Amino acid sequence: METRQAAGVLSEARRVVVFTGAGMSAESGVPTFRDALTGLWARFDAERLATPEAFHADPDLVWGWYEWRRARVRRAEPNPGHLAVAAIEARVPAITVVTQNVDDLHERAGSQAPIHLHGSLFAPRCAGTGAHPATFPDVEAAMAAEGGRIPPPRCASCGALVRPGVVWFGETLPEAGLTAAVEAAASCDVLLTVGTSGVVHPAAEIPRIAAGAGATVIQINPEPTPLDRVATLNLRGPAAKVLPAVVAAAWPGVSA
Ligand code: APR
Repeated sequence: METRQAAGVLSEARRVVVFTGAGMSAESGVPTFRDALTGLWARFDAERLATPEAFHADPDLVWGWYEWRRARVRRAEPNPGHLAVAAIEARVPAITVVTQNVDDLHERAGSQAPIHLHGSLFAPRCAGTGAHPATFPDVEAAMAAEGGRIPPPRCASCGALVRPGVVWFGETLPEAGLTAAVEAAASCDVLLTVGTSGVVHPAAEIPRIAAGAGATVIQINPEPTPLDRVATLNLRGPAAKVLPAVVAAAWPGVSA
């Protein structure tokens, strides 16, 4: 029932925002943050590793953790949920994909220019100047050292440590991306929020801004979240199943 309602709203929409979190990539085998703790995630507190202070105190531990994550993402494939987002993108007049994920699975599924509010695993930068290093560290070496400490490379121009190109707790989000995401949320008619716990701010404001501006907010998540109250429609289920079903109902004959 909700699937058909969501499909109806989506097929009429002119300006859409798709807002995604870790649950979007869960069925690609990329662990989420706050559930399904496995491997390193079970042994370390992700929120304590993802800080400038953690990197400063133990750069080898933090760099090794991110290299492990990057290697896992390299081996992962976009799932039918990512493909459904790209299918929506090809069919609605205007869309902005806003992700909190640091993987590249939206791009690899065909989304044109997702906004990465929390940065990317694939854009390490100099911890001193912020410039992106010209050379890219070896992911396969990181795989060999799964779970291990890996010393970060040094910036070729200034010798400072290279750090992951992600936004850590306590850091500000990329200004241009955040501004574009807020503007898109404030002016969309439909926002899909997919696979996010909706607890990390300021990213979690995005669906709330859309709801406040009168958009229909559709949430896709197998579990309840604080966004349940914000959403007009709550579709309880995994992204890789629910999103393709919504697309199929919105545009019959199209398979994501
Ligand atoms: N499909 C859809 N949603 C799912 C699925 C699935 N297959 N599996 C799990 N989920 C949901 C969970 O129920 C949960 O609500 O995905 C959500 C994942 O929440 P978090 O792990 O908190 O991830 P996220 O919301 O992306 O975290 C936000 O916090 O740690 C920081 O910077 C990090 O970007 C991250 C931010």
